[in-house]
Amino acid sequence: METVSIWKRKEMKGMVICRAKDYKELSRKAANIISAQVIMKPDCVLGLATGSSPVGTYEQLIEWYKKGDLDFSKVSSINLDEYKGLDPENDQSYRYFMNTNFFNHVNIDKANTSVPNGLEPDADKACKDYDAIIEKSGGVDLQLLGLGHNGHIGFNEPCDIFPCGTHCVDLTPSTIEANKRFFESEADVPRQAYTMGIGSIMKAKKIVVVVSGEDKAEILKKVVCGPITPEVPASVLQLHPDVTIVADEAALSKM
Ligand code: F6R
Repeated sequence: METVSIWKRKEMKGMVICRAKDYKELSRKAANIISAQVIMKPDCVLGLATGSSPVGTYEQLIEWYKKGDLDFSKVSSINLDEYKGLDPENDQSYRYFMNTNFFNHVNIDKANTSVPNGLEPDADKACKDYDAIIEKSGGVDLQLLGLGHNGHIGFNEPCDIFPCGTHCVDLTPSTIEANKRFFESEADVPRQAYTMGIGSIMKAKKIVVVVSGEDKAEILKKVVCGPITPEVPASVLQLHPDVTIVADEAALSKM
């Protein structure tokens, strides 16, 4: 595996960039890291993401599960985010996404999988309940992330602070624009979401970020080489002791 270590400052450990030729290879490499986690610690807690970027990773994990190489029976999972107001049965909800793209195809116990409750209208309650679930899990062993075009991770949109715990966010126009492809029209994209905070993401023992495509090249460069600022939320990952960015050549084209 070709890797490049980026040493930012003496006291920081390296951020590893793992270069893949294309999306298929990227997905295989990311799935390899997750498999190693599940094999080394069968009762691990996986932090999971939705969106296009991890779909290939889930497909690869399902393939290896079907071959008998992986066992998810003791794994539990905590997802990053959910649209506020969407029913889990709604085919645009992140719970539905997780069930159809991953959980329904492996032997994970769905009772051990968590997604924020999009149907809870009381944002304070929804967020406190989710923080309690994260706390009770004992901590995420491996957090899988995608990267938004504006540098968001989870739905932590650019702002002037790094939010700590689960919170309710107003989605930015750029995120609504990017996500409208999954809905019938832009008007159907929910305007708010519940998301794990940056603090919770940073507490994960290991973080794997999957980034694909030329349209992510500019933001990926800012995340890795730019200043650490809440205006580029993912830039905070430079401070995490164990981050692997698995990116294809197109996403790395500006580095
Ligand atoms: C999804 C999530 C988002 C996505 C990001 C990239 O749970 O938390 O941060 O990872 O919007 O989305 P894609 O992969 O569709 O480009």
